[in-house]
Amino acid sequence: MNTKRMRVLSGMRPTGKLHLGNLHGALDNWLKLQEECECFFFIADWHALTTDYATPEKIRENTWDIILDWLSVGLDPEKSTLFIQSEIQEHAELYLLLGMITPVPWLERNPTYKEQQQQLSNKDLSTYGFLGYPVLQAADIIIYRANGVPVGKDQLPHIELTREIVRRFNHLYRSDIFPEPQALLTEFPILPGIDGKKMSKSYNNCIYITEPGDSVRKKIMTMVTDTQRKRRSDPGNPDVCPVFDLHKIYSSEENRGEITDGCTTASIGCVDCKKILLENLNKVLEPIREKRKLYEKNMDNIKSIMQEGIKRARKEASKTMEMVREAMGMAPFADL
Ligand code: TRP
Ligand code: SF4
Repeated sequence: MNTKRMRVLSGMRPTGKLHLGNLHGALDNWLKLQEECECFFFIADWHALTTDYATPEKIRENTWDIILDWLSVGLDPEKSTLFIQSEIQEHAELYLLLGMITPVPWLERNPTYKEQQQQLSNKDLSTYGFLGYPVLQAADIIIYRANGVPVGKDQLPHIELTREIVRRFNHLYRSDIFPEPQALLTEFPILPGIDGKKMSKSYNNCIYITEPGDSVRKKIMTMVTDTQRKRRSDPGNPDVCPVFDLHKIYSSEENRGEITDGCTTASIGCVDCKKILLENLNKVLEPIREKRKLYEKNMDNIKSIMQEGIKRARKEASKTMEMVREAMGMAPFADL
């Protein structure tokens, strides 16, 4: 496929500020894609509502937080169309229409459906909206006739379902409106949080993209290391050390060589090792923090950026919907 002309779409649910795991797992990839493809990136606030319908206050706050994070890391509204799902009501209409042709068993057998229900057992997720989550996601993707969807492995079942819905639609209505979208998998080593487990909002072990420097320093300084290295005089093993996993992302090969030598011979201590990490990490985070400060001072500018993106997205979405209504025999009544 000619990636120059490939149309790419992806979304994030506004369930919290972005952390380093999000930065390297998804955003780095989006930044690359925006240079090569026609990109649409959006805040999936209706999707956030499927699990957080009882506490919607947070969704708005998180939406602006994430938009600021996006712009601060370098998503460029001149290159990518940035928008908010709930501003494009056409998604809801397509979701309804796709609901007519999507068999319920396809949704019930979706592995993330049962997993999430079990994992989030404090919430009542036996709702119609939660079951329909992947149908809404399919609508998000195909309403822009996207070819590529950059996602993590966890989203593969949803992309597969989207492809099945597309095939069914195209077959039922003898249509070729929708291409079958492809998942663009981001292979990225799992980033450890400060407790050494996978960095994740639900473990409360994250370093946030725009977290202030002193707070980042405290977190790194208390981060778990090779747990076998109890005393400064004990040699350590970088291969089992979560701090070293971060060095793999932020530090040069030269740095890493020195650390490996120093650690395994106990000639450097964990505190020194962490100081080197901090310095390198800050080189990445400081410009992002600076940019965020500038954007925060000018929310009017952010709002007009989003209005522009919403306008562009809406134009595409309404073009698609005209074709969809026509194909499904649901065009506006000419005789009314
Ligand atoms: N379900 C996705 C997630 O949790 C978010 C999402 C919603 C999405 N709609 C999408 C991702 C469309 C890609 C394309 O990460
Ligand atoms: Fe980990 Fe660095 Fe300590 Fe070695 S010196 S155990 S790599 S923190």
